[in-house]
Amino acid sequence: MIDDLWYKNGVIYCLSVATYMDANGDGIGDFKGLTRRLDYLHGLGVTAIWLMPFQPSPYRDDGYDISDYYGVDPRYGTLGDFVEFTHGCKQRGMRVIIDLVVNHTSDQHPWFKQARADPNSPYRDWYVWSDKKPAHADQGMVFPGVQKSTWTHDKQAKAWYFHRFYEFQPDLNTANPYVQEEILKIMGFWIQLGVSGFRMDAVPFVIATKGPKVKKPVEQFDMLRTFREFLQWRKGDSIILAEANVRPEDDLHYFGDDGERMQMMFNFHVNQHLFYALAAADTGPLAKALAATKPRPATAQWGLFLRNHDELDLGRLTKAQQRIVFEKFGPDKTMQLYDRGIRRRLAPMLGGDQRRLELAYSLMMTLPGTPVIRYGDEIAMGDNLALPERRCARTPMQWSTEPHGGFTKSDKPEIPVIDHGAYGFEHVNVAQQRRDPDSMLNWTERIIRMRKEVPEIGWGDFKVIAARDPAVLILRYDWRNNSVLFVHNLDEQPREVSFAVGLPDDAGDTLIDLLGPNHSHASRGRHKLLIEGYGYRWFRVGGLDYLLRRTEVDGGGRSKA
Ligand code: GLC
Ligand code: CA
Repeated sequence: MIDDLWYKNGVIYCLSVATYMDANGDGIGDFKGLTRRLDYLHGLGVTAIWLMPFQPSPYRDDGYDISDYYGVDPRYGTLGDFVEFTHGCKQRGMRVIIDLVVNHTSDQHPWFKQARADPNSPYRDWYVWSDKKPAHADQGMVFPGVQKSTWTHDKQAKAWYFHRFYEFQPDLNTANPYVQEEILKIMGFWIQLGVSGFRMDAVPFVIATKGPKVKKPVEQFDMLRTFREFLQWRKGDSIILAEANVRPEDDLHYFGDDGERMQMMFNFHVNQHLFYALAAADTGPLAKALAATKPRPATAQWGLFLRNHDELDLGRLTKAQQRIVFEKFGPDKTMQLYDRGIRRRLAPMLGGDQRRLELAYSLMMTLPGTPVIRYGDEIAMGDNLALPERRCARTPMQWSTEPHGGFTKSDKPEIPVIDHGAYGFEHVNVAQQRRDPDSMLNWTERIIRMRKEVPEIGWGDFKVIAARDPAVLILRYDWRNNSVLFVHNLDEQPREVSFAVGLPDDAGDTLIDLLGPNHSHASRGRHKLLIEGYGYRWFRVGGLDYLLRRTEVDGGGRSKA
């Protein structure tokens, strides 16, 4: 039964076909190349792959500007190659989720072309128009500093159209029932081709009211239920992972009170506070963020991440907290973006220090939710700040010391491989790290293996245990008569911590170290640990008999073997 809800205890790996592996040597990644790398991904232990958009696109927003929802961009291969890929995943027990970008289309989509060419076209009402320039056309931009407005005049249409994002991404009029029906059709199509669900792009904007008179958009949450129901009818185990950077008080509107809406959402709130915690060695605000995002239906799950393909948005932090994160992780203007975030990759933010990278990933993997790993983070890839906006962190995967990191045989990859400095492919690549037992790659593989063996994180109830030291976070999870406990020291200095596990009787007296030899025995109910700078510990609570207890059926009360 618990395995049916596969997303509750999975490890998701996000990549873009364009930058993963080029099989035919034209300088652009493709499905054939990616398919050849499936054994690598399977070996790493990921259970699901999230593909960024690969449909035909003018590629002005790295594919988030789609011109045909029912195809594969010829640069990446054919629909046939796509199906071979999903089949290859299935053979290895991995699932595939894909980006669903339906807030807007490309301005090159035939729907928009017809809409702008003919006021009587049925497609006219698929977009959002205004005869006059709306009063708040210069408000609500998602990319401030780059995007000038949210309404642009179209000469051919002789009208203004609405675009929440760049001007080449006209918003779909998602209130139109035909548009809604088309969205379902798109989902149905890809489900049929073997995907297990969608990372739904920009969800709050998809479901918002749109129009020249709309001053404050209102979310139409019922749409989420419609999407969910449709998916469940077509294929019961398919899910939606929503990109919705919303306030904790709105979480349940997205999950649904009874879990009838989105199965998963990214936890942006925790993400920002996690970066603050890493920057300041202060876990207080992170603990509050965990508490604020705790309420959710039993079948729902958070997607936990460190860096993603966009900028690290710090908008939720106080000014003082933001200042600390910028100072530590993105002090230069070139590292910052859209007046709110940092565009670098994780490794350079943490000074390329493997201890800090391990700490960050260990934390991310043990916070309540399902971890989402960004391709390249498993080898501590860097960024190329010479590339514009968010492109800096979207460079090709570095496989080996061969030219262009083994990504392509072409001499001119479309997006350049990082080839100089400490993060160049000659120093950071898969082939070398495979041979080194202490590499980031082998560490990641081991930690993923262990993470999958601790379903308590995905399923259980968590509690923050008082550490009396803001640099140290202690979390305990309880599930089906089992408990696990995680200790993280975010400071560079070693710490001595003393704590009580907080279970009745002597149930918490023994802690078994899951990653090393440092078991702990309580004295008069309290554990005392010495934990090194940036150190982390994963413990199973309750002694060596846990394996026996784990086989017991679900039941109330803690058994003493
Ligand atoms: C989401 C994506 C981002 C994209 C935008 C427009 O925020 O994560 O990469 O630019 O939507 O589709
Ligand atoms: Ca290619």
